[in-house]
Amino acid sequence: MKNILKIRVAVMILGTIVVAGLSAYRSLGQAGRGQTFRLDGGDVTYEFGVNERGELQAIYWGEKLGAHDAVVAAHSMPEMASFDSPGTTTPQEYAAWGAGLFTEPGLKISFADGNRDLVLHFVSSHATAGNYEILMKDISREIRVTLRYSMDAESGILARSAVIENRDKAAVVVEQAAAAQWTLPAARYTVSYLTGRWGGEWTLNQEPIQGGSRVIESRRGSTGHQANPWFAISRDDSGKTVGPLSAGEEHGEVWFGALAWSGSWRITVERTQLDAVRVTGGFNPFDFGYKLNPGEKMETPIFYGGYSNHGLGGASRLLHHYELVHILPTAPNPKPRPVIYNSWEATEFRVDEAGQEALAEKAASIGVDRFVMDDGWFGQRKDDHAGLGDWYVNKEKFPNGLKPLIDKVHSLGMDFGLWVEPEMINPDSDLYRKHPDWVLNFPGRPRSESRNQLVLNLARPDVRDYVEGFLDKILSENDIAFLKWDYNRNWSEPGWDAVPVDEQKKVYVEFVGNLYAILADLRKKHPKIEIESCSGGGGRVDLGILRYTDEVWPSDNTDPYDRLSMQNGFSYAYTPQVMMAWVTDSPHWGNNRATSLTYRMLSSMDGSLGIGANLNKWSAEDFATAKRLIAAYHAVQKTIVQGELYRLISPRDGSEFSATESVSGDRGQAVVFAYADATIQGRGFPLLELQGLDPDARYKLAFIEGKALSGTLETASGDWWMHHGISLDLRGDFQAASFRLDREK
Ligand code: DGJ
Repeated sequence: MKNILKIRVAVMILGTIVVAGLSAYRSLGQAGRGQTFRLDGGDVTYEFGVNERGELQAIYWGEKLGAHDAVVAAHSMPEMASFDSPGTTTPQEYAAWGAGLFTEPGLKISFADGNRDLVLHFVSSHATAGNYEILMKDISREIRVTLRYSMDAESGILARSAVIENRDKAAVVVEQAAAAQWTLPAARYTVSYLTGRWGGEWTLNQEPIQGGSRVIESRRGSTGHQANPWFAISRDDSGKTVGPLSAGEEHGEVWFGALAWSGSWRITVERTQLDAVRVTGGFNPFDFGYKLNPGEKMETPIFYGGYSNHGLGGASRLLHHYELVHILPTAPNPKPRPVIYNSWEATEFRVDEAGQEALAEKAASIGVDRFVMDDGWFGQRKDDHAGLGDWYVNKEKFPNGLKPLIDKVHSLGMDFGLWVEPEMINPDSDLYRKHPDWVLNFPGRPRSESRNQLVLNLARPDVRDYVEGFLDKILSENDIAFLKWDYNRNWSEPGWDAVPVDEQKKVYVEFVGNLYAILADLRKKHPKIEIESCSGGGGRVDLGILRYTDEVWPSDNTDPYDRLSMQNGFSYAYTPQVMMAWVTDSPHWGNNRATSLTYRMLSSMDGSLGIGANLNKWSAEDFATAKRLIAAYHAVQKTIVQGELYRLISPRDGSEFSATESVSGDRGQAVVFAYADATIQGRGFPLLELQGLDPDARYKLAFIEGKALSGTLETASGDWWMHHGISLDLRGDFQAASFRLDREK
């Protein structure tokens, strides 16, 4: 008892977590019946416990409870009818498929003797500040599952994952393994999730959670453009008032989660027959089968979950901050991204020394920080038919290697970045002619090409070594600050015939594990390197890859108007710090939409700015405009990309107006972007009532672009800007304005 007290006191002194009724490590004959666990962080409390049946059961997740409130012990649900036993009606923390479970399982295993029943009961727990490890075991077999919980003291975001271990005498196959399951009590909810396609990522979908399941997933071997592993669930009624009270952008309860996995994944949002909501996420069980020999274990990805009482806006601000401080490779202090120039839309595959140097000179003249040469510099790469896999510099295009171009870029005051697509191979390449067995394939079956390329099987140790080897060589031989790491197709025929048949499906896990390992090794060997995750746009954006990459390419669609709604969708899950946004040419190649350079600049400045236009076609006026706006951007970039984001007016649902506001962490500065897509029947731009300012401080207004209607004060209190608001003089088609507010000293 004394020890228990000591631990409780010590943990409370840390000020972040209260551990209720728990010894630091204890293994119980009675398997902890009635034992409870509590995690506190930010404004959030998370509780679970062991019920009288020995199952681990969800108890509470939401607004922080009183520090001394006792955790009420978990009690299983009764049998509803002969069709629904407590095993399925009780909301288990991590339910295994067995004993009549009909809701989504967290874990499903096949045993060598034909048994497929698995029932996990609590064994023991281990606690450190903000963390729990809970050991569970099957009621008779030696299958052990360790559930990991780690609560961030500041945001209350909880990281959950599971380790599955086979201590039995025979091998087993894990057929389904979630990272975590989350439970919310019966109420009316709306689920938000992101879907899309190539060139059209980041559509926010919102719908009521009704009976049954909503599945979002990728079966593609990678994260995918079509759905992103993020969800948010808003509570539709407060339970305290009569009538609907929908959780909105800035009010109401929201639970959210993001899965840190860059392979095939699945998130199931399920409303049970008792109206509870269960969210299960982890490896996609489709075509899954991970063999565990005796003594082996496997680890799931991490599923992060959080709660906000300030609507979807509050939820995304928590997540952004968490990404900056805990996820990104340079966390907790990632530098705002350099403003880049990228050659792709200007030259496509037609890169050469003289052409790139000419672009570099022009890019430097407007204040670009980093020059990135895209596809086309290697092997026999003239178009997308050949070259992938042959990572030597093309001698016709660069007779003296990359050094002259890199030196030139440096002499212009920029650093140098290079495009690579390491996991891919063209059949027309020396590498494929030498190693046709290195690609994902089923022997004797066709190998489906996309963009004339096949996928190297990165799960193979020899492929892994080759990929890491050539990247290490390029980085060792050249002064390169940045890699744009591309990935331009999904898997087909995902066979791995070099290993026994019952090991082959491990490809879904080992491929991604090796990708992460290569990225980690490269960063260790070349500590200054920065990396972008690109997959034909936003096909590989998730919290897994973001642990190793500094930024992402959200979409190949660079149309500045399309980008506004995509950037809006993106911002629900990911911080603007990682959201690269290029200014490209007008009319746009995709929509044939003509827009002014100012509009294009402002659309891209509302994220991490890049220039991807053909500078050879720019006028003197274009150069002057870009130079002025890049300088203005540099001055406020940190607030835009690392500040607190308020989506003041959403561009969704046919709105002809939209606006964002970012407020610096110390509330000393706010930056606003406003866009009018069309003025209809003379309607003016809506009044902008700002948010998140210090009400008592005085802020001075300065326009980066555009102007306010007359009568706007130049200096006023935070209260005034937030309540009186500001009316912009913004009319016409595809017009944009931006201003900053700076707190007076
Ligand atoms: C797809 C990327 O998204 C583009 O930006 C460009 O790098 C091309 N690949 C190059 O092949």
